[in-house]
Amino acid sequence: MKIEGRSSAGADVYGVDLRTIDEAGLASLKAAFADYGLLIFHEQALTPEDHIALAGRFGEININRFFEAHPAHPEIAMVRKERDQLQNIGGGWHTDHSYDVDPALGSILVARELPPQGGDTLFLNTSDAFDRLSPGFQTMLRGLRAVHSAKHIFGVQAATAAEVDGDRLGNAAAAEGLADVVHPVVVRHPLSGRPTLYVNPAFTLHFEGWTAQESEPLLRQLYAHMAAAPGVCRVRWAPGMAAFWDNRSTWHYAVNDYHGERREMHRITLEGCALEAA
Ligand code: SIN
Repeated sequence: MKIEGRSSAGADVYGVDLRTIDEAGLASLKAAFADYGLLIFHEQALTPEDHIALAGRFGEININRFFEAHPAHPEIAMVRKERDQLQNIGGGWHTDHSYDVDPALGSILVARELPPQGGDTLFLNTSDAFDRLSPGFQTMLRGLRAVHSAKHIFGVQAATAAEVDGDRLGNAAAAEGLADVVHPVVVRHPLSGRPTLYVNPAFTLHFEGWTAQESEPLLRQLYAHMAAAPGVCRVRWAPGMAAFWDNRSTWHYAVNDYHGERREMHRITLEGCALEAA
Protein backbone atom coordinates (compact mmCIF):
# COMPACT_ATOMS: atom_id res chain seq x y z
CA MET A 1 0.00 0.00 0.00
CA LYS A 2 1.25 3.49 -0.89
CA ILE A 3 -0.05 6.64 0.84
CA GLU A 4 0.90 9.84 -0.98
CA GLY A 5 0.06 13.19 0.60
CA ARG A 6 -1.19 15.80 -1.89
CA SER A 7 -1.20 18.58 0.70
CA SER A 8 -2.02 18.69 4.39
CA ALA A 9 -5.67 18.42 3.31
CA GLY A 10 -5.58 15.00 1.72
CA ALA A 11 -3.66 11.89 0.67
CA ASP A 12 -4.12 9.37 -2.13
CA VAL A 13 -4.04 5.73 -1.18
CA TYR A 14 -2.93 3.23 -3.84
CA GLY A 15 -2.38 -0.51 -3.92
CA VAL A 16 -4.97 -1.60 -1.41
CA ASP A 17 -8.23 -3.50 -1.68
CA LEU A 18 -10.52 -2.07 0.98
CA ARG A 19 -12.60 -5.26 0.96
CA THR A 20 -9.73 -7.36 2.26
CA ILE A 21 -7.37 -4.96 4.02
CA ASP A 22 -5.71 -6.57 7.06
CA GLU A 23 -5.37 -5.09 10.56
CA ALA A 24 -1.86 -3.73 9.91
CA GLY A 25 -3.11 -1.98 6.76
CA LEU A 26 -6.07 -0.59 8.66
CA ALA A 27 -3.75 0.79 11.36
CA SER A 28 -1.70 2.56 8.65
CA LEU A 29 -4.87 4.08 7.22
CA LYS A 30 -5.97 5.28 10.67
CA ALA A 31 -2.60 6.95 11.23
CA ALA A 32 -2.75 8.65 7.82
CA PHE A 33 -6.35 9.70 8.50
CA ALA A 34 -5.24 11.48 11.70
CA ASP A 35 -2.47 13.25 9.75
CA TYR A 36 -4.38 14.29 6.61
CA GLY A 37 -8.08 14.25 7.54
CA LEU A 38 -8.89 12.93 4.05
CA LEU A 39 -7.94 9.65 2.37
CA ILE A 40 -8.72 9.20 -1.33
CA PHE A 41 -8.98 5.61 -2.57
CA HIS A 42 -8.72 4.54 -6.19
CA GLU A 43 -9.84 1.51 -8.22
CA GLN A 44 -11.99 -0.05 -5.53
CA ALA A 45 -14.88 -2.45 -6.13
CA LEU A 46 -16.98 -1.88 -3.02
CA THR A 47 -20.53 -3.23 -3.04
CA PRO A 48 -22.95 -1.55 -0.60
CA GLU A 49 -22.33 -4.48 1.77
CA ASP A 50 -18.54 -3.96 1.51
CA HIS A 51 -19.02 -0.25 2.14
CA ILE A 52 -20.95 -1.00 5.34
CA ALA A 53 -18.40 -3.59 6.48
CA LEU A 54 -15.51 -1.17 5.84
CA ALA A 55 -17.22 1.65 7.75
CA GLY A 56 -17.80 -0.69 10.67
CA ARG A 57 -14.05 -1.29 10.91
CA PHE A 58 -13.46 2.44 11.43
CA GLY A 59 -16.26 3.11 13.90
CA GLU A 60 -19.94 2.99 14.73
CA ILE A 61 -22.29 3.88 11.88
CA ASN A 62 -24.59 6.89 12.26
CA ILE A 63 -27.96 6.42 10.53
CA ASN A 64 -28.68 9.68 8.73
CA ARG A 65 -31.86 11.42 9.89
CA PHE A 66 -32.25 13.79 6.96
CA PHE A 67 -31.06 12.24 3.69
CA GLU A 68 -32.91 9.64 1.70
CA ALA A 69 -31.65 6.18 2.70
CA HIS A 70 -30.43 3.52 0.28
CA PRO A 71 -33.52 1.37 -0.46
CA ALA A 72 -31.92 -1.80 0.94
CA HIS A 73 -29.38 -0.40 3.40
CA PRO A 74 -30.45 2.30 5.89
CA GLU A 75 -26.78 2.73 6.88
CA ILE A 76 -26.14 4.34 3.47
CA ALA A 77 -27.32 7.90 2.84
CA MET A 78 -27.99 8.76 -0.80
CA VAL A 79 -26.15 11.87 -2.00
CA ARG A 80 -27.82 12.33 -5.33
CA LYS A 81 -28.53 15.01 -7.90
CA GLU A 82 -30.94 14.14 -10.71
CA ARG A 83 -30.74 15.58 -14.24
CA ASP A 84 -33.62 17.96 -13.63
CA GLN A 85 -32.42 19.24 -10.26
CA LEU A 86 -30.52 22.46 -9.78
CA GLN A 87 -29.47 22.17 -6.13
CA ASN A 88 -26.97 19.58 -4.99
CA ILE A 89 -26.23 18.34 -1.50
CA GLY A 90 -23.26 20.00 0.16
CA GLY A 91 -22.73 22.71 -2.47
CA GLY A 92 -20.93 25.12 -0.15
CA TRP A 93 -18.12 24.89 2.40
CA HIS A 94 -19.28 22.94 5.45
CA THR A 95 -18.56 20.16 7.85
CA ASP A 96 -21.22 17.53 8.47
CA HIS A 97 -23.12 17.12 11.73
CA SER A 98 -21.71 20.07 13.70
CA TYR A 99 -25.34 20.44 14.90
CA ASP A 100 -24.97 17.26 16.98
CA VAL A 101 -23.88 17.13 20.62
CA ASP A 102 -21.26 14.57 19.61
CA PRO A 103 -20.43 15.59 16.01
CA ALA A 104 -19.76 12.79 13.53
CA LEU A 105 -16.18 11.57 13.22
CA GLY A 106 -16.31 11.51 9.43
CA SER A 107 -17.84 9.98 6.34
CA ILE A 108 -16.91 7.42 3.71
CA LEU A 109 -18.24 8.48 0.31
CA VAL A 110 -18.32 6.02 -2.60
CA ALA A 111 -18.83 7.16 -6.21
CA ARG A 112 -21.71 5.29 -7.88
CA GLU A 113 -22.69 7.40 -10.91
CA LEU A 114 -20.71 10.40 -12.10
CA PRO A 115 -21.37 13.17 -14.59
CA PRO A 116 -19.12 13.10 -17.69
CA GLN A 117 -17.30 16.08 -16.23
CA GLY A 118 -17.49 18.18 -13.08
CA GLY A 119 -18.94 17.12 -9.74
CA ASP A 120 -15.58 17.32 -7.92
CA THR A 121 -15.37 17.67 -4.15
CA LEU A 122 -13.02 20.17 -2.48
CA PHE A 123 -11.48 19.74 0.97
CA LEU A 124 -9.47 22.03 3.23
CA ASN A 125 -7.75 21.50 6.55
CA THR A 126 -9.25 23.41 9.49
CA SER A 127 -6.32 22.72 11.86
CA ASP A 128 -3.99 24.46 9.39
CA ALA A 129 -6.48 27.33 9.21
CA PHE A 130 -6.05 27.87 12.96
CA ASP A 131 -2.25 27.72 12.68
CA ARG A 132 -2.28 30.50 10.05
CA LEU A 133 -3.81 32.99 12.50
CA SER A 134 -1.76 35.33 14.70
CA PRO A 135 -1.20 34.32 18.36
CA GLY A 136 -3.34 37.20 19.57
CA PHE A 137 -6.26 36.29 17.35
CA GLN A 138 -5.89 32.61 18.32
CA THR A 139 -6.10 33.51 22.01
CA MET A 140 -9.24 35.59 21.46
CA LEU A 141 -10.92 32.75 19.52
CA ARG A 142 -10.03 30.19 22.21
CA GLY A 143 -12.31 32.12 24.57
CA LEU A 144 -15.37 31.75 22.31
CA ARG A 145 -18.03 29.11 21.82
CA ALA A 146 -20.52 28.94 18.94
CA VAL A 147 -24.09 27.75 18.51
CA HIS A 148 -24.82 25.23 15.73
CA SER A 149 -28.20 24.18 14.33
CA ALA A 150 -29.75 21.86 11.73
CA LYS A 151 -33.13 23.58 11.56
CA HIS A 152 -32.41 26.18 8.87
CA ILE A 153 -30.93 23.49 6.59
CA PHE A 154 -33.15 20.44 7.23
CA GLY A 155 -36.14 21.91 9.06
CA VAL A 156 -39.59 22.95 7.89
CA GLN A 157 -38.44 26.11 6.12
CA ALA A 158 -35.73 24.26 4.18
CA ALA A 159 -38.01 21.31 3.39
CA THR A 160 -40.48 23.68 1.78
CA ALA A 161 -37.71 25.00 -0.48
CA ALA A 162 -36.45 21.47 -1.23
CA GLU A 163 -39.88 20.37 -2.45
CA VAL A 164 -39.45 22.77 -5.32
CA ASP A 165 -36.29 20.89 -6.23
CA GLY A 166 -37.50 17.34 -5.86
CA ASP A 167 -37.75 16.91 -2.10
CA ARG A 168 -34.58 14.93 -1.49
CA LEU A 169 -34.05 15.96 2.10
CA GLY A 170 -36.75 14.56 4.35
CA ASN A 171 -37.64 14.44 8.02
CA ALA A 172 -38.09 18.11 8.79
CA ALA A 173 -39.71 17.05 12.07
CA ALA A 174 -36.42 15.49 13.21
CA ALA A 175 -34.59 18.75 12.51
CA GLU A 176 -37.20 20.84 14.30
CA GLY A 177 -36.96 18.53 17.32
CA LEU A 178 -33.17 18.79 17.51
CA ALA A 179 -31.99 21.29 20.13
CA ASP A 180 -29.26 23.68 18.98
CA VAL A 181 -25.83 22.82 20.42
CA VAL A 182 -22.76 24.75 21.53
CA HIS A 183 -19.15 23.81 20.70
CA PRO A 184 -15.87 25.61 21.39
CA VAL A 185 -14.74 27.69 18.41
CA VAL A 186 -11.27 26.14 18.78
CA VAL A 187 -11.41 22.42 19.58
CA ARG A 188 -8.62 19.98 20.33
CA HIS A 189 -8.77 17.46 17.51
CA PRO A 190 -9.59 14.08 19.06
CA LEU A 191 -7.03 12.19 16.93
CA SER A 192 -4.21 14.61 16.17
CA GLY A 193 -4.45 16.73 19.34
CA ARG A 194 -4.09 19.85 17.18
CA PRO A 195 -6.10 23.02 17.89
CA THR A 196 -8.70 23.25 15.14
CA LEU A 197 -11.21 25.87 14.04
CA TYR A 198 -14.69 24.47 14.48
CA VAL A 199 -17.21 26.81 12.85
CA ASN A 200 -18.73 26.45 9.39
CA PRO A 201 -21.01 28.50 7.11
CA ALA A 202 -23.72 25.83 6.86
CA PHE A 203 -24.56 25.06 10.47
CA THR A 204 -22.97 27.70 12.76
CA LEU A 205 -25.51 30.36 13.76
CA HIS A 206 -23.63 32.74 16.08
CA PHE A 207 -21.19 32.96 18.96
CA GLU A 208 -22.58 32.02 22.36
CA GLY A 209 -23.77 35.17 24.14
CA TRP A 210 -23.57 37.23 20.92
CA THR A 211 -26.44 38.01 18.56
CA ALA A 212 -26.36 36.73 14.98
CA GLN A 213 -25.84 40.31 13.83
CA GLU A 214 -22.90 40.82 16.19
CA SER A 215 -21.39 37.45 15.18
CA GLU A 216 -21.71 37.92 11.44
CA PRO A 217 -18.63 40.09 10.72
CA LEU A 218 -16.24 37.86 12.68
CA LEU A 219 -17.73 34.65 11.28
CA ARG A 220 -17.47 36.08 7.77
CA GLN A 221 -13.83 37.00 8.38
CA LEU A 222 -13.07 33.50 9.69
CA TYR A 223 -14.82 31.81 6.78
CA ALA A 224 -12.93 33.95 4.25
CA HIS A 225 -9.66 33.09 6.00
CA MET A 226 -10.46 29.36 6.01
CA ALA A 227 -11.68 29.26 2.40
CA ALA A 228 -8.45 30.96 1.29
CA ALA A 229 -6.48 27.88 2.40
CA PRO A 230 -3.34 27.37 0.31
CA GLY A 231 -3.66 23.57 0.22
CA VAL A 232 -7.23 22.95 -0.95
CA CYS A 233 -7.49 19.37 -2.15
CA ARG A 234 -9.70 18.76 -5.20
CA VAL A 235 -11.06 15.22 -5.57
CA ARG A 236 -11.84 14.52 -9.22
CA TRP A 237 -14.01 11.46 -8.98
CA ALA A 238 -13.63 8.44 -11.24
CA PRO A 239 -15.51 5.15 -11.16
CA GLY A 240 -14.28 2.96 -8.30
CA MET A 241 -13.17 5.86 -6.13
CA ALA A 242 -14.03 6.38 -2.49
CA ALA A 243 -13.01 9.02 0.05
CA PHE A 244 -12.91 8.99 3.83
CA TRP A 245 -12.82 12.43 5.51
CA ASP A 246 -12.67 13.69 9.07
CA ASN A 247 -15.43 16.16 9.90
CA ARG A 248 -13.44 17.67 12.77
CA SER A 249 -10.33 18.64 10.79
CA THR A 250 -11.72 19.37 7.32
CA TRP A 251 -14.35 21.36 5.50
CA HIS A 252 -15.68 20.03 2.19
CA TYR A 253 -17.55 21.49 -0.77
CA ALA A 254 -19.40 19.49 -3.45
CA VAL A 255 -19.00 21.54 -6.64
CA ASN A 256 -22.35 21.96 -8.40
CA ASP A 257 -21.17 22.42 -12.00
CA TYR A 258 -22.89 19.58 -13.87
CA HIS A 259 -26.50 20.67 -14.44
CA GLY A 260 -28.41 18.28 -16.69
CA GLU A 261 -26.28 15.29 -15.61
CA ARG A 262 -26.86 12.72 -12.89
CA ARG A 263 -24.52 12.14 -9.96
CA GLU A 264 -25.05 9.50 -7.28
CA MET A 265 -22.78 8.94 -4.30
CA HIS A 266 -23.27 6.66 -1.30
CA ARG A 267 -22.29 8.10 2.08
CA ILE A 268 -21.80 6.35 5.39
CA THR A 269 -21.14 8.57 8.38
CA LEU A 270 -19.43 7.45 11.57
CA GLU A 271 -20.32 8.47 15.09
CA GLY A 272 -17.95 10.89 16.82
CA CYS A 273 -17.45 12.25 20.30
CA ALA A 274 -17.88 15.44 22.32
CA LEU A 275 -15.37 18.11 21.33
CA GLU A 276 -13.21 19.81 23.96
CA ALA A 277 -11.77 23.29 23.85
CA ALA A 278 -8.11 23.52 22.89
C1 SIN B 1 -21.43 15.93 1.22
O1 SIN B 1 -21.42 17.10 1.54
O2 SIN B 1 -21.40 15.02 2.04
C2 SIN B 1 -21.44 15.58 -0.25
C3 SIN B 1 -20.10 15.48 -0.84
C4 SIN B 1 -20.16 15.18 -2.30
O3 SIN B 1 -21.21 14.86 -2.81
O4 SIN B 1 -19.12 15.25 -2.97
